[in-house]
Amino acid sequence: MEQTSLAGSFALPGTSIVLNRMGYGAMQLAGPGVWGSPRDIDAAIAVLREAVESGVNHIDTSDYYGPHVTNQIIKQSLYPYPNGLVIATKLGARRGVDKSWIPAHSREELISGVHDNLRNLALEHLALVNLRVGGMLEPSEGSIEDPVTVLAELKRQGLIRQIGLSNITPTQFREAQKITEIVCVQNFYNVAHRNDDAFIDDLAAQGIPYVPFFPLGGFTPLQSTALDAAAAELQVKPMQVALAWLLQRSPNILLIPGTSSIGHLRENLKAATLQIPSRVLALLESIGGGHKHQQRP
Ligand SMILES: NC(=O)c1ccc[n+]([C@@H]2O[C@H](COP(=O)([O-])OP(=O)(O)OC[C@H]3O[C@@H](n4cnc5c(N)ncnc54)[C@H](OP(=O)(O)O)[C@@H]3O)[C@@H](O)[C@H]2O)c1
Repeated sequence: MEQTSLAGSFALPGTSIVLNRMGYGAMQLAGPGVWGSPRDIDAAIAVLREAVESGVNHIDTSDYYGPHVTNQIIKQSLYPYPNGLVIATKLGARRGVDKSWIPAHSREELISGVHDNLRNLALEHLALVNLRVGGMLEPSEGSIEDPVTVLAELKRQGLIRQIGLSNITPTQFREAQKITEIVCVQNFYNVAHRNDDAFIDDLAAQGIPYVPFFPLGGFTPLQSTALDAAAAELQVKPMQVALAWLLQRSPNILLIPGTSSIGHLRENLKAATLQIPSRVLALLESIGGGHKHQQRP
């Protein structure tokens, strides 16, 4: 079932880890509101297994999805894990009993978060941990020295292999780089939300991957007449155009679209081979508030 191309691959800087550019985000596998068990556990297991059988070697997760649920489904579906599969997780938040998302950046919270992930994924070390900063969608300025220092210690102890950052500003990225090696950034970005254009280009110049979360709009899936028109022109689905647009946007963009549906998974994986010609790219320029970034045809 392995596909011939998942849009090529990209190496995490300073490591031997090579990720296929088309990955998978596991957040949608928990129940409604990213809380509790999925409506259909068999479907969740099937989605994960088919993603990996199709060549996905980068799964994004967190122990606060569910909480614990998503990691436990990953373990149930894929353990023992195939060689080369990278499960990237996140620290920096926890869930309230009212299903809220609460920042969790203290030393104790970060350490217990690592152990929650290790236990629920049945791993002895975490290959890649993103420190989640900022609010639900956008980053906010402020020093991240303390939590990054804790993650660097956990890396020295061997519990974490690589460190990334999520929901951060370029200033916070530079601050963290002075403390430890940062191998990737995960921020909110898609064809309709392009605040990070300059940041992506800067990271590309440094050889650092950028992993957009909400590549399809997240809890508010993308809707756009321009996207519909581009999809009609190419005879594909609008979501496939949105993913292919990201892949063409910059070679350092790695995708983690989320779905609980095997049909949507298949559509998303097929977007890896979709080339958007320049006349269709032009249709999409209006979506991002008139951004004039030069797309790669
Ligand atoms: N760092 C952070 O703060 C942060 C925040 C949010 C998310 N994330 C990560 O980013 C990953 C991706 O984000 P996300 O899953 O929230 O949002 P997303 O990938 O932008 O979109 C997921 C939504 O799109 C739907 N969808 C997926 N494929 C589709 C298709 N082919 N056609 C139509 N609808 C489709 C899904 O519904 P169905 O289930 O019905 O397909 C779901 O409602 C998450 O899994 C998570 O790992 C990180």
